[in-house]
Amino acid sequence: MEDHLEFLKSRRSIRRFKEEKPPLELILKAIDVARYAPSAKNSQPWRFIIIDDPEVKTKLAEIHLWARPLKNAPLGVVVACHIDESPTSYMLDCANATLYFLLALHALGLGATWIQSLRNVEELKELLGLPNHVVPVAIIAIGYPDENPPPRPRKPLEEIVFYNKYGVKSKNK
Ligand SMILES: Cc1cc2nc3c(=O)[nH]c(=O)nc-3n(C[C@H](O)[C@H](O)[C@H](O)COP(=O)(O)O)c2cc1C
Repeated sequence: MEDHLEFLKSRRSIRRFKEEKPPLELILKAIDVARYAPSAKNSQPWRFIIIDDPEVKTKLAEIHLWARPLKNAPLGVVVACHIDESPTSYMLDCANATLYFLLALHALGLGATWIQSLRNVEELKELLGLPNHVVPVAIIAIGYPDENPPPRPRKPLEEIVFYNKYGVKSKNK
């Protein structure tokens, strides 16, 4: 069990990738796992667009400064979300699927980084041919890791855990 917890803690955003392109079967395997993420009313509003056309990938890498990891990633996947299938919770549902996808990629020995898409929704809709009711919730840069970054700092439990009421840090109060 501890091994599972350590596995969860060992995921990192990977922004440098080897040139070798991961086989499509591995990406599909990770998407298969992402389907098991929880969603409101089991609505599963997610769709996955695999980006292996270098021209499309380059355009995605240029949508903003922080999209640059896509430039040297051999593959990308856009997680898109069908609003009508989960009108209240589509963003949460698709964030869940994205995280499952990231963890599955990690389990398969692949590296990935979540690239922000929400400030460029219209541009991405145009680029990817998304209909109006489909929102690009995340872009994932994917490849074999070519770096081994240390963990980013995390807030301590004392800062983020409360008991019964917001701000109460001691169980005995
Ligand atoms: C909603 C969201 C948007 C993010 N956008 C970017 C991004 O545009 N570019 C990038 O390099 N990393 C991006 N990240 C990755 C975060 O920077 C990273 O998860 C965070 O620094 C913690 O590091 P870790 O993933 O290695 O634990 C994003 C993560 C999330 C969840």
